[in-house]
Amino acid sequence: MTGLRQVTALYPGSFDPVTLGHEDVARRTLRVADRVVVAVAESSTETKTPAFSLAERLEMLKEVFSGERIECVSFRGLLVDYARECGADVVVRGLRAVSDFEYEFQMAQMNRELNPDLEFIFLTPDAELSFLSASLVRQVAQLGGDVSSFVSSPVLERLKRRFQAA
Ligand code: PNS
Repeated sequence: MTGLRQVTALYPGSFDPVTLGHEDVARRTLRVADRVVVAVAESSTETKTPAFSLAERLEMLKEVFSGERIECVSFRGLLVDYARECGADVVVRGLRAVSDFEYEFQMAQMNRELNPDLEFIFLTPDAELSFLSASLVRQVAQLGGDVSSFVSSPVLERLKRRFQAA
């Protein structure tokens, strides 16, 4: 991308599950980085019990990005430590609306305290996806609503299996 050296971008998140909004941000990242690593975190800043295990969330990421130039991994522990381990130059996060800003700003500042060399960039998803969140998708799916416009088919199948069985 720079002509001098490869830029590696790390896109971390809970991805519980990965939505079309996440997919859009990951693919947009390919426009600004040579290497894109989508990393599902075991520990989220927000206290929440995930609907899908770490392994399941990673499997869904691998399914939706299959055949694309996007690596999918999981990590435990601090984001800054994993960023160092995978050689990331920048961390990418999606910014949907002003309401996301405070949370993202707080995390970016804390991460900067932990590793001043790491840069954070924020990408906005397609406007049509800007209302979308994994938590809304989970709740709608759990209550029997149709989420087929919000997630890719491998994720839809998992949601059906998870919540129809519940
Ligand atoms: O999709 P999310 O839940 O908004 O993603 C938040 C995530 C996973 C990126 C954040 O919680 C994180 O970086 N977790 C790893 C643990 C860590 O480094 N926590 C301190 C962050 S300031």
